[in-house]
Amino acid sequence: MKVIVTKDYEAMSEAAFRLVKTVVTAKPNAVLGLATGTTPLGLYARMAEDHAACGTSYREIKTVNLDEYVGLGPESDQSYVYFMRKNLFEHLDLPLENTNIANGKAEDLEAECARYNALLATLQQDVQILGIGSNGHIAFNEPGTPFGAETHVVQLAESTIRDNARLFAREEDVPRSALTMGLKNIMHARRVIILANGQNKAKAVKGLVEGPVTESLPASVLQLHPDCTLIIDEAAASLL
Ligand code: F6R
Repeated sequence: MKVIVTKDYEAMSEAAFRLVKTVVTAKPNAVLGLATGTTPLGLYARMAEDHAACGTSYREIKTVNLDEYVGLGPESDQSYVYFMRKNLFEHLDLPLENTNIANGKAEDLEAECARYNALLATLQQDVQILGIGSNGHIAFNEPGTPFGAETHVVQLAESTIRDNARLFAREEDVPRSALTMGLKNIMHARRVIILANGQNKAKAVKGLVEGPVTESLPASVLQLHPDCTLIIDEAAASLL
């Protein structure tokens, strides 16, 4: 794993943007694997700015997102599909039909997981962007998830519900379950870029880089990926 330590959040976002721009420029029909959460917002803002300033085209790009809350759809401003449209897609020339996020409102969630999984098999990510949870989760693969897991329905860990409560009016409003790509789907990406900033990620980052490869810390599976770059600020790197 290549580790890049940057001074702060802005420098982390800039370093990630440079890598993503290289992929998009070299391969205009690339498949981008995308994450939600606070961490990639600086990256997405830079992609939007660059598109406006330099005209970098996303017309032929396809995207696949990591996860979605069960029960939420585009009309809900807490859904991940809403998040992606507002923070990235509507700022690019990316056709919405080229974007893919599991449907949290599907009547048959198992069938939706199977559909999304089959789609991922046809859309290998040229680059997969990841954040990391304070408990070491990636996407919503919580501690204990088998490394061989594919897209599945997951009950969120109490720590994840607490971490994500800041984005909801009340902790009770955080959905208790989600649809998520599995670790196998993430490992299938040609290249992985994982981002982390802030002291509250330092312990998970230490486990990711220096710990044993264990299902207790799902992100540690990335030690086995042939092309993984970790970009972190000094606070997230403080225990390394
Ligand atoms: C988001 C996702 C999550 C987040 C992680 C960190 O799609 O899959 O794994 O990347 O929970 O979230 P933030 O960036 O909000 O700290």
